[in-house]
Amino acid sequence: MNRREEIIAFLGRDWDHVLALIRSNLHSGVALLEETNERILSNSGKMLRPVVAMLFARMIGPVSEDSCRFAAAAEMLHNATLMHDDVADESAERRGRPTLSSLLGPGPAVLVGDYWLARAVSLISASAHRNDVIPLFARTLTDLAEGEMLQLEKAGSANTSEEDYLRIIYCKTASLFSVAAETAAISVAATPEQREASRAYGSALGIAFQIKDDILDYAGTDALGKPVGVDLKEQKITLPLLAALEGSPRENEIRAMVREIPSHPEHCDAIRAFVAERDGIAAASRRLGEWVARAEEALDVFPDGEARQMLVRIARFNMIREV
Ligand code: IPE
Ligand code: IPE
Ligand code: MG
Ligand code: MG
Repeated sequence: MNRREEIIAFLGRDWDHVLALIRSNLHSGVALLEETNERILSNSGKMLRPVVAMLFARMIGPVSEDSCRFAAAAEMLHNATLMHDDVADESAERRGRPTLSSLLGPGPAVLVGDYWLARAVSLISASAHRNDVIPLFARTLTDLAEGEMLQLEKAGSANTSEEDYLRIIYCKTASLFSVAAETAAISVAATPEQREASRAYGSALGIAFQIKDDILDYAGTDALGKPVGVDLKEQKITLPLLAALEGSPRENEIRAMVREIPSHPEHCDAIRAFVAERDGIAAASRRLGEWVARAEEALDVFPDGEARQMLVRIARFNMIREV
C-alpha cells in the first residue's frame, strides 16, 4: 500500500462519503453535462484538498456531515478553477488527457467550470455551519479570480517582484488550501486556536505546493500530465527566475527579454540558461523548504497521532513530488 492509499484507508467510509457527495451534487439532467462530468470524475487528480480537509476533521474530530460537505466542495471548486485556468492559459493537457477547452472549446469549458462552482456553492449553502463558512469560501473565490487576474496583469509588464509573486500564489492556490483546512476545523467545532492553526497550515502548504508546481514547470517531465515550460512562454515570472534575478547585474536585461517573449520566443532558452547558471531551482527549493517547515510548525498545537503525522508527510511530499 502506498502512502496515498494508506491515507485513504485511514479515512475509510468518511472518504467514500466525500466521493459520493461530489458525484451526487454534480448530477444533472443535461446529458452533455453528465457525460462531461463523468469524463472528469473518472480521471481525478491527487485530491489533495479534500484529503487535507478530512485529516483536519479527523484529527480534531469527530468528523461530521459538514466535514464531508466542505471537503467535497473544496475539490469541486478546485476542479472548477482548473477548467477556467486551462482556458486562461490556453492549455491543451491536464492529468495526461486533453483539456476540456481543447475538446469542447473555451466557452463550454468555462460553463462547465461555472457549473462545478455553482454546485459547490449549493453544497456549502446546505450545511449547518453555512453562516460561518460562506464568507470564508466567498473570500477564497474572490482571491482565486484576483490571483489569476493579477498574474495576467504582471505577465504583460515583466516587473513581478517577490512580494507580487507571493500574493499571486497565495490567492490562486494557497487560499483554497487554507479555506479547506479552516472549514474542516469549523465543521468539528474546533477551538479558535485550532482553527487558526488549521488555516495557517493550509496557507503554508498551499504556498509550498504552488512553488513546487512552478519548479516543476522548469524541471518536470511528461509524468506531470500537463505541459511543462509554459509559464515562461506566457511571460510568468515565477520563483526559479525571481531567485536567479536576485542580486544579478543582468536583472534589467533579463526582465526586458521577458517583455519581448511574444515577438522573440527564442529568448525563453536564454532565460532558462540564466536560471540554470544561477541555480534558480535550488534557491526556489530552499524557499519551498521554509514553507514546508512553517506548515509543520502550525501543527504543533495538535496532539501527536496518525492524522497529524499524515499531515506532516503531505507537507514534506512537496519537496519530493514529481507530479
Ligand atoms: C494543480 O493542482 C493546480 C495548482 C494549484 C498548482 P493539483 O496538482 O492539485 O491538481 P490535481 O487535482 O492533482 O490534478
Ligand atoms: C494554478 O496555477 C492554477 C490555479 C490555482 C487555478 P497554474 O496555472 O500554474 O496551474 P497548472 O500548472 O496549470 O496546473
Ligand atoms: Mg495553468
Ligand atoms: Mg503550473
